Amino acid sequence: MTARVLDGKARAARLTAGIAARVAERVRSGRAPPGLAVVLIGENPASQVYVRNKRRTTEAVGMRSFAFDLPAGTPQTELLALIDSINADPSVNGVLVQLPLPQHIDGELVTERIDPRKDVDGLHPYNIGRLVLKRPVLRPCTPYGCMVLLKETGADLAGKHAVIIGQSNIVGRPMALELLIERCTVTVCHSKTRDLPGLVRQADIVVAGVGKPNFVQGDWVKDGAFVIDVGINRDATGKLCGDVDFAAASERASWITPVPGGVGPMTIAMLLANTLQAAELQDSVA
Ligand code: GUN
Repeated sequence: MTARVLDGKARAARLTAGIAARVAERVRSGRAPPGLAVVLIGENPASQVYVRNKRRTTEAVGMRSFAFDLPAGTPQTELLALIDSINADPSVNGVLVQLPLPQHIDGELVTERIDPRKDVDGLHPYNIGRLVLKRPVLRPCTPYGCMVLLKETGADLAGKHAVIIGQSNIVGRPMALELLIERCTVTVCHSKTRDLPGLVRQADIVVAGVGKPNFVQGDWVKDGAFVIDVGINRDATGKLCGDVDFAAASERASWITPVPGGVGPMTIAMLLANTLQAAELQDSVA
């Protein structure tokens, strides 16, 4: 079997075009454009690229982008005070603090300080709790984008065995909750998992979010499987690659996401979808 490519770039472009139209309609009807604050601390080069793309796309759909770039040594108290002021600012509907944070900052504390109604990353315990209870409000962007791509296949996901590689708070855990809502049977694998290749070989859906270049081998992939690659890595030659050996896995999978152009653009599209949703939620309670 030769896999069909799940084109995240094209799907994200369709989504952002729809979001831009809804933003324009909001503005025509006299409401403010949604505002998104993206906070970047320090100079991690990968984070700088991601944040630049987020801000650029925010403006491209007609939303207001609020940029906060703080030095790596910013004290935690200062970051918490900034979040408090953003929480209180009605022109900002969503806030995202780019991860990873410097060592001296407690990421959990920062996430919990964000007003859950402005938590467009969907990572606040309130939003994760709502996802656990099958009543999601603001959903973590990367798993949300993966679900949109899986639905692009047109397949009924109910009853499929999904194997997730990675148990992070951003990807693996919320991904498991999303797939459970669709009534998949879910296995979450991590560094202590025994016989990972054997488990992946049973998977109808594979989601790889481990951050290791070309980690998932082609012969781990079951014939006809759907393969979602969340990794963005550099291989030994410096070329961008995912967590899955794309060429080899494509010979077995029925659908596969490329890197770049797969999950990455979807994450940004879902961030903007969440920001619009947050603005609408805030309208209705204002
Ligand atoms: N770093 C990598 N991915 C993400 C994400 O989805 N949200 C935030 N805040 N930081 C990230």
